[in-house]
Amino acid sequence: MRKKMSIGSIKSAKGSKKLVMITAYDALFAKLFEDADMILVGDSLNMSFAGKSDTLSATLDQMIYHTNAVAMGAKESFIICDMPFGTYTNKDDALQNAIKVFQQSSADAIKIEGGSSKAEIVRHLCENGIAVCGHIGLLPQAFRSEGGYKIKGKSDEEEQRLIADARSIAEAGAFCIVIEGVKADVASRVAKSVSVPLVGIGSGSEVDGQVLVWSDAFGLFSEFKPKFVRTYLDGASIFKDAMQHYIDDVRSGAFPSKDESY
Ligand code: KIV
Repeated sequence: MRKKMSIGSIKSAKGSKKLVMITAYDALFAKLFEDADMILVGDSLNMSFAGKSDTLSATLDQMIYHTNAVAMGAKESFIICDMPFGTYTNKDDALQNAIKVFQQSSADAIKIEGGSSKAEIVRHLCENGIAVCGHIGLLPQAFRSEGGYKIKGKSDEEEQRLIADARSIAEAGAFCIVIEGVKADVASRVAKSVSVPLVGIGSGSEVDGQVLVWSDAFGLFSEFKPKFVRTYLDGASIFKDAMQHYIDDVRSGAFPSKDESY
């Protein structure tokens, strides 16, 4: 039987085993994803499931609701709840909101976006019993302020900033860091500069693990497909075909059959 990851086993995976993280937003799919090392209840749900154009309007209550649903489905998984935009702008708010997540859901950890500028917040959370996963590089919550999704690590200065970001939040106590949208060679060097695992998304293969948004990986989100996504299933076609089959059966009277009736 699969053993649930702990903060210790996640940290010690660095250098010995690539970590697998995937998003989930509900019990039904979380149960199917239990074999991943970590399940992230990402605020990406605002786009892939709520149909919004960015993640910014996700609320803390929504994240708690979805984290509870995921925890019901994946009882043996290490679950990370993404803190939504505006819920960790200072130490006090961050702690109050993270405590709410821990008290109202069975999240094992929370994730916050940002590097050196968030180090003191990460430290405050960790000192108060909240396990923190960092998130550096392309920050989806900075989408509007940066005027789009910008790939990072394109200059020496950006590389040095990424290394400083990773080091400062690792030193502040983060047990793991998501690195998003960073040039592969740079991400590899950032990974080598810290002792905690760096889980990449759109950051090449030379990091300590990978995370994908499940609806991207399984072909259900068709608004756009970033270059880094590998599609493991043509989910949209499979569902559409099945739906058409159901429509045809109802309209033709083929469903329900005698065996499907009382
Ligand atoms: O919200 C999310 O799904 C994320 C991943 C892109 C890492 O933060």
